[in-house]
Amino acid sequence: MALFKRSSSTPQAVPAHVAIIMDGNGRWAQKRGLPRTAGHAAGAETFRTIATYCKNIGMQYLTVYAFSTENWKRSETEIAAIMGLLEKYLVEALQKMAKDRVKIAFFGDLTPLSPRLRALCEQVTEVSQNYEGVQVNICLNYGGRDEILRAARAYAAKCAAGAADPQALDEAAFSDLLFSARIPDPDLIIRPSGELRTSNFLLWQSAYAEYYFTDVLWPDFTPAELDRAIAAYNGRSRRFGGVK
Ligand code: IPE
Ligand code: IPE
Ligand code: MG
Repeated sequence: MALFKRSSSTPQAVPAHVAIIMDGNGRWAQKRGLPRTAGHAAGAETFRTIATYCKNIGMQYLTVYAFSTENWKRSETEIAAIMGLLEKYLVEALQKMAKDRVKIAFFGDLTPLSPRLRALCEQVTEVSQNYEGVQVNICLNYGGRDEILRAARAYAAKCAAGAADPQALDEAAFSDLLFSARIPDPDLIIRPSGELRTSNFLLWQSAYAEYYFTDVLWPDFTPAELDRAIAAYNGRSRRFGGVK
């Protein structure tokens, strides 16, 4: 595990994989009398800041929940604004990719996205695949249940074709069928905005994750807040069902 110096001068071990439910954009905007879309724009800025910070402190994986399979219930205007912000971010990311060396991957079914956004996602994934900075996994049209169903269907199809044996399926083989294949499970899952639920995020992968909840709304989330979450994580006793 990498070490970084916190402002309090206590070195903290940085978890290898942190996942964040980027929630609270709408409430942040409403509090200011702004449209919800302004909250998403502010949230996108916070994402840029936090991703850079994660890279600087030597985190290996950062997984962010950007748009869920349930978020299609929102208004067309709001969805279009979120997709537009994603496009903007990916265009920028492509421009500075060679310098940043951040690897970007996507978790989720990208087929319902606009052809332009999909093409950008594919381009960013391909160009950055060998970069060694932090790996940022963007969950886009992602749902934990949908991910598990897809994996189950894929394995069932292999069995039906005679290419796999139902009894041979174990946890490792199942994990390899998920969007997160070959990526270690998250150590720490952070949810800002005061909501105390997972909202369908990383259901399989979160089996032994440590949770950190804060009332701070995502656009107000700062590197110092991430430091607090990491400090809390370092104070936890992870037993994985055993005894320590
Ligand atoms: C999270 O912020 C962004 C997405 C879900 C796309 P919200 O838009 O859910 O913000 P609140 O929860 O309404 O404040
Ligand atoms: C979870 O937040 C999804 C994202 C942050 C992308 P939501 O705002 O959609 O979750 P609920 O509706 O409060 O459970
Ligand atoms: Mg929300």
